[in-house]
Amino acid sequence: MALAKDPGTGPEQRDAADQNFDYMFKLLIIGNSSVGKTSFLFRYADDSFTSAFVSTVGIDFKVKTIYRNDKRVKLQIWDTAGQERYRTITTAYYRGAMGFLLMYDITSQESFCAVQDWATQIKTYSWDNAQVVLVGNKLDLEEDRQVPTEDAQRLATELGFQFFEASAKDNINVKQVFDKLVDVICEKMNESVNGDASPSVNQKGNGLKDTPHSSQGGCAC
Ligand code: GTP
Ligand code: MG
Repeated sequence: MALAKDPGTGPEQRDAADQNFDYMFKLLIIGNSSVGKTSFLFRYADDSFTSAFVSTVGIDFKVKTIYRNDKRVKLQIWDTAGQERYRTITTAYYRGAMGFLLMYDITSQESFCAVQDWATQIKTYSWDNAQVVLVGNKLDLEEDRQVPTEDAQRLATELGFQFFEASAKDNINVKQVFDKLVDVICEKMNESVNGDASPSVNQKGNGLKDTPHSSQGGCAC
């Protein structure tokens, strides 16, 4: 995977260059390494899955255009590396993101414990109105589950996030996660009658924080 590409120069060049859309949303997938971020994106964008693990280097993206509420919505979906060593690169891409998929693995308590820290990263580096869906991936591995659904639902409610359990492997709730994120972004836009939350126009300059919040840290468990 490429380290840090610019939209329009990658394999989705044609899609990325397509100007025929009503809205363009920049989305980021974040979470610990190996929770299934890349797999989730491949399932959504290409309807493919592989059990081989190729850890993402830096950041990559895919473009997918969908119809939602009679609108053509172009999604620019950035897949970030979960490994700590890429954190400086990946957090640089938080700016201007309209929505986040914050992913953990239901068979890994450690990945769930990291959710609070990832939420702090969002608060620190992203736009105030960014919407977040907490996704517990690998639902197909129920027998290996370490994270009870109720714990994750409670944390999502506390953090003000939407919540889904899903499986990239078995294609459970993948489309639903993206549809929900698009819907909540649209709702947020509609609330901002003055247009200061408009994502399709000048995303980078609108409503961004100038100074990072101090990190809360700590384990969510
Ligand atoms: P980084 O790029 O290092 O941050 O990891 P990632 O979060 O992108 O993980 P990736 O998608 O590469 O998946 C890690 C491993 O988990 C791979 O072996 C995948 O095949 C596997 N995997 C991903 N999603 C699922 C799932 O829903 N169910 C099961 N059983 N395995 C999955
Ligand atoms: Mg990856």
